[in-house]
Amino acid sequence: VVLSLLVAACVAEQKFPPGFKFGAATAAYQVEGAWNVSDKSPSIWDTFTHENPDFIADKSNGDVACDSYRLWETDIAVAKDMGLHFYRFSVSWPRLLPNGYSNYVSEDGKRYYNNLINGLIENGIEPVVTLYHWDLPQKLQDLGGWTNPELARLFEDYAKVAFGLFGDRVKTWITFNEPVIICDAAYETGRMAPGIVLPGIGTYICAKVVVLAHARAYRLYDTKFRAQYQGKVGLTDQHLWCEPKNSDEVENAELIRNLLALYAYPIYSKTGGWPPSVEKLIAEKSEKEGYSRSRLPTFTQEEIELIKGTYDFYGLNYYTSRMVETAQPGQYLYWPMTGSSEFGLALSPDPSWTNGHDWLISFPPGIRRQLHWLKQQFGDIEFKILENGYSTAEPVMFDEERVNYYKDHLEQVLLAINEDKVNVTAYTAWSLIDNFEWINGYTSRFGLVNIDFNDPDRKRTPRASAHYYAAVIKSHSLDL
Ligand code: BG6
Repeated sequence: VVLSLLVAACVAEQKFPPGFKFGAATAAYQVEGAWNVSDKSPSIWDTFTHENPDFIADKSNGDVACDSYRLWETDIAVAKDMGLHFYRFSVSWPRLLPNGYSNYVSEDGKRYYNNLINGLIENGIEPVVTLYHWDLPQKLQDLGGWTNPELARLFEDYAKVAFGLFGDRVKTWITFNEPVIICDAAYETGRMAPGIVLPGIGTYICAKVVVLAHARAYRLYDTKFRAQYQGKVGLTDQHLWCEPKNSDEVENAELIRNLLALYAYPIYSKTGGWPPSVEKLIAEKSEKEGYSRSRLPTFTQEEIELIKGTYDFYGLNYYTSRMVETAQPGQYLYWPMTGSSEFGLALSPDPSWTNGHDWLISFPPGIRRQLHWLKQQFGDIEFKILENGYSTAEPVMFDEERVNYYKDHLEQVLLAINEDKVNVTAYTAWSLIDNFEWINGYTSRFGLVNIDFNDPDRKRTPRASAHYYAAVIKSHSLDL
């Protein structure tokens, strides 16, 4: 009897809570293609890949990508076969608003997203929409992009159009995907579009504008759309879970965790404003460096209040973890973000973590520890895991490593829910299909579904991991 009770308890723990949802994600530039179809204007990624092919591993671009602009019904079909509860995709701002401004809405852009949204709903799949997954209209970059404070208003206007057009059917909105990449990789290290290198400055100016843009869009939804549409709005942050390399590095690891919460803190913390430890350090450093004020722009009290509490959930993208240690000369922070010069710290995977390639070394306990840390920081709020996934260099069809990655991470998510009592309500696999992986081009495969990029019709073929994920979704458990 004791044994069967124990078995029953274990089995029960392998079950996801009722109402827990599973989905998969993509982003417009990575899958749509059709970069210059109809009246769509170029995005910063069109410009960046066309002007700097050498920045991309295989010198490729997203001109055609998965051709999802044409083949969206096939995307819906593979999502349906897997039994996904939701599909997370992004709207391309320059496809919907070719001028960047809300004075002109593209009929074709509108039609495309309406078709996709309606097609998903007809097939029982909930659309989850990201407003900004990195493809800013080039016309707005020409005005300074995310370093121009006016962008916060322009983003609000864009959000207003999207909420107005699609809000009757879209109930989950993500304003920004990973501000850390939008700001650090784009304005700090220049590794991503638009490739601007403004060390110690660009990322912080951008951070303030992006956080304000998010807040404005949220407040707009609250005042103009919530009563009618009853949806949820949040943003999604990528966190690397950071472990101290040894007992001397405990505070440093905590500092980096806070640095990675730069964008979350103003929104989710009770006090609002930047994470205090990070704010203090940058202010002190700036003073020593002879700046007349901190390189991290301050918020007015009014801005703090505007931003604070602008969330209905916390979106977490988690892929991997790092060990933190004091940097030796020549060491660098392994992350496209504020470099080691800022805090004198280096991040690297632990040598015992052996699975994974490129920057994506697998450390499953990191997802649980990150969730727990966020709960400690921001309280008992709703968490949605909006990205988690594994890449291979080759298009492996029997992708056992990816199956194990998903299994191991889902196990940790269950522990977070059952043991740490973190309120996680959704899990999203990155990615539904192989796609244009930014600076890795097509050399990195994340898809549950393989894409044949040599085929003019971009044949979609589910991998072993797609079958595994379908089984998890069907049984609502890891006990298969
Ligand atoms: C996330 C992004 O950071 O990681 C995705 O939101 C991206 O868009 C994924 O594709 C994988 O990253 P990368 O850099 O390996 O392509």
